[in-house]
Amino acid sequence: MKILGKEVLADSQGVRIVKITIQSLDIAAKAKAGQFVVLMVKEEGERIPLTVVNADPKKGSVDLIAQEAGFTTKLLIGVKAGDSLYSIVGPLGHPTEIKKYGKVILVGGGVGIAEIYPVAKALKDAGNQVISIIGSRNKELLILERELKEVSDECIVMTDDGSYGRKGFVTEALKELLEKSKYDLVYAVGPVPMMRAVSVVTKSFNVLTLVSLNATMVDGTGMCGCCRVSIGKEVKFSCVDGPEFDASQVDWQELLKRNSIYTEKEKHICRLSSVE
Ligand code: FES
Repeated sequence: MKILGKEVLADSQGVRIVKITIQSLDIAAKAKAGQFVVLMVKEEGERIPLTVVNADPKKGSVDLIAQEAGFTTKLLIGVKAGDSLYSIVGPLGHPTEIKKYGKVILVGGGVGIAEIYPVAKALKDAGNQVISIIGSRNKELLILERELKEVSDECIVMTDDGSYGRKGFVTEALKELLEKSKYDLVYAVGPVPMMRAVSVVTKSFNVLTLVSLNATMVDGTGMCGCCRVSIGKEVKFSCVDGPEFDASQVDWQELLKRNSIYTEKEKHICRLSSVE
């Protein structure tokens, strides 16, 4: 699968986030907001899931955004325009249910901002009043601000260190909005602790809250069981039952634990392979 372009969106404090545009007529024609692809950079590599951030059916191009987090994302970030990925499968997962909810808040943290963008766009097109809250550690790591502003009635920027926008966490801005007015939906994507904190805030306001879970995946098609999450009393697979779930039903503790299973192995493989 040919790579049409690569753009570094952020590079600060050892965190790199890049946008990669690939050519895929089929995926571009079918992908809907909320769906993802599973790709392999090399034949001997692992598969990783990435949200479809933008799809252009006319050009047959698909934009993916990745943050360096382990061996494979380091490999992916090293690709150049003109290179080819070994494989890509998609679109996978259920699309977001797009309809007129009324007033919606989208909350994106870190690279999760890339995942709320297509949903914000689709919800705006469906006639909703869209407020986006986007947050990052600092100004340099903030991505897609202009794009989110274009599809939002209001876009609130938060940085942990106060280097841009307001100083503080996305949950502070969310709580203020919910205290002032009634909203019909909150949609959040980001690190698991952030989504869990969003869920705690919205529970007390009794507002429907959806989260797109970044569970560890292997095949992405419901066969391996790697991405299982506990939702209420049921076990679900993020890849085929999700990736979106009702935040109030997610077993966050279990998800955190499962997502950290390979952390030490990742570090070891990166050291052995010296992928820089
Ligand atoms: S990734 Fe294998 S079941 Fe979901």
